[in-house]
Amino acid sequence: MNRSRAAADPGRRRFLQGSGAAAIAGWLSWPAVRANDDVVLSASPARIDLGAGDGTDVWAFNGAVPGPTLRVRQGQRLRARLENRLDAESPVHWHGIRIDNAMDGVPDVTQPPVPPGGAFLYDFHVPDAGTFWYHSHRFSHEQVGRGLYGLLVVEEETPYPVDRELTLVLDDWRLTEDDQIAGDFGNLRDVSHGGRLGNWITVNGASRPDIDVMPGERLRLRLANTANARIFTLRVADVSPWVIALDGQPVTPTTLEAGRVTLAPGQRADLVVDVTLEAGARAAIDYVHDRGVLNVASLVAGAGSAPTTPREPPPPLPRNPLIETLELDTALDIRLVMSGGAMGTMASAMFKGREVPIRELVRDHGMAWSMNGVAGMPEVPLFSVERGRTVALEIVNDTRWPHAMHLHGHHFRVIGYNGETLPDSPWRDTTLMFAHDTSRLAFVADNPGRWLIHCHMLEHAAGGMLTWFEVT
Ligand code: C2O
Ligand code: CU
Repeated sequence: MNRSRAAADPGRRRFLQGSGAAAIAGWLSWPAVRANDDVVLSASPARIDLGAGDGTDVWAFNGAVPGPTLRVRQGQRLRARLENRLDAESPVHWHGIRIDNAMDGVPDVTQPPVPPGGAFLYDFHVPDAGTFWYHSHRFSHEQVGRGLYGLLVVEEETPYPVDRELTLVLDDWRLTEDDQIAGDFGNLRDVSHGGRLGNWITVNGASRPDIDVMPGERLRLRLANTANARIFTLRVADVSPWVIALDGQPVTPTTLEAGRVTLAPGQRADLVVDVTLEAGARAAIDYVHDRGVLNVASLVAGAGSAPTTPREPPPPLPRNPLIETLELDTALDIRLVMSGGAMGTMASAMFKGREVPIRELVRDHGMAWSMNGVAGMPEVPLFSVERGRTVALEIVNDTRWPHAMHLHGHHFRVIGYNGETLPDSPWRDTTLMFAHDTSRLAFVADNPGRWLIHCHMLEHAAGGMLTWFEVT
C-alpha cells in the first residue's frame, strides 16, 4: 500500500486506504453506557488501532475513540463526571443538547476550565430525543482532532420500530508516515483555508469496516460527522435509506435524494435502511467528493433468506418539545457578517479591543476570520435578547469558504437562503453555508444564559470565527 501521506488531498495517497477492509470484532458490543447511573468520562492519552498500522497515540474518553456511546432516555437526567487525566485543560460540551447553560462546557463562559488532574460533574436533563454528541471544547481543533469525542443517544420514550440500530461516527485524521497524528494543529494554512483536512478516514475508529447485517432487517443508522473540517457527502448504495432526523430533530421521513446525505462537521443524520440484500451481498457506504468516490464502510448481509423488498415507509419520530412557533413579525433582527480567510477582502479586524491589520492578525495572533469585524471572542455579546423572543439571524458569508455555523443551546430553522424563503426547513443546530451565500436562521431564544455561535470547522473557530449571544 502507498505509505506516503503527502497532503490533505483526497485524490492521492492512502486516503485511498488499503484494500483490505477490516471486519470489526464485536461490532455490537461497541462500548455503550446506560447513563441511568453515574458515568465517568476519563480523558487521557491512549494508543488505539485506527487500522493504519501498529497503533496511533490519541487522546480519548475512556481509552476509546469514539468514546463510549452514552444512552439516556428522553427527559431523564444525565450525570457524567469528567476526570481530566490529560496535561491540558479539557471541558466537555454536549453538542445539540438544549442544556442548562451552566452545563454547556464552554470554559470561561459557562464554567472554569477543568485543569489537569481535575474533575467536573455534568448533571443535566435531556429534553430532546435524538442523536447528539459530546466533545472537548478547549482548543477543540486539537483536542477533538486527537480523539476527544463520543456519541450521546437520547432514546424516545416509546422505542422506534426498527429491528436494530447502529451508530456510525465519521472522522478524518491527519496521520504521519509512522501512523501518528500530525502535530501541526492550528497551522495558518489550515486556519485560513478549509480547516484541517486529513488523510485517513475512519468509521467508529476503524478503516472501511464491514458491518454485519441480516437480510430483511430494518435498521436505524445514527450518523455523526466528528471531523474537524471535512464535509462528508455520503452515498448509501443498494439500499434506499430514509432520513428520519437531522441534528437530533425529527423530519418527515423522506428517501434520500440520489441516496445521498451531506454532513458538515458537527452534524448528524438518522437514517432508516431496509436490508434488501441477499445473503453475502454488500451495500457500500461511500464518501462522494469532488474528485471521486471513496468507500468508508460496507453493510454486509449474513446468512438468511428474509424478504429483500423494502417495507412500508418508516413512521415519523415524535416531535421534540421545542417551541416551533416563530414570531417573525416581532423578531429581533440580527445581521452577522463573516469575513476573512484566504483570498478574502478583510483588511483588518478588532482584536482584544484594538483594530489590527490583517497581516499582523495572522502573523502575531493566528487570527484569520472575523464576525461583524471582530476576530475571536468579543467582550460584548453579538446580541442580548429577552427569554421567549424570536430571533431572526441573517448570516452573510463574505468569504471564499464554506462554513458550518453552529449555535449552542438552541435549534433553529433556516428560513431563507440567498433571499429565497424556505417554508419548511428542518430544525438544526449546525448549518452548512457556501461561499458568498446568505442564510437566514430563526429560533425562539428560550434558554437563558450565554451561548456561543461559531463555525464548527474547528480551525475557523480557533482563527476567530466565533461570537456569543445572551438570553436574559
Ligand atoms: Cu460541537 Cu461549540 O460545538
Ligand atoms: Cu468556517
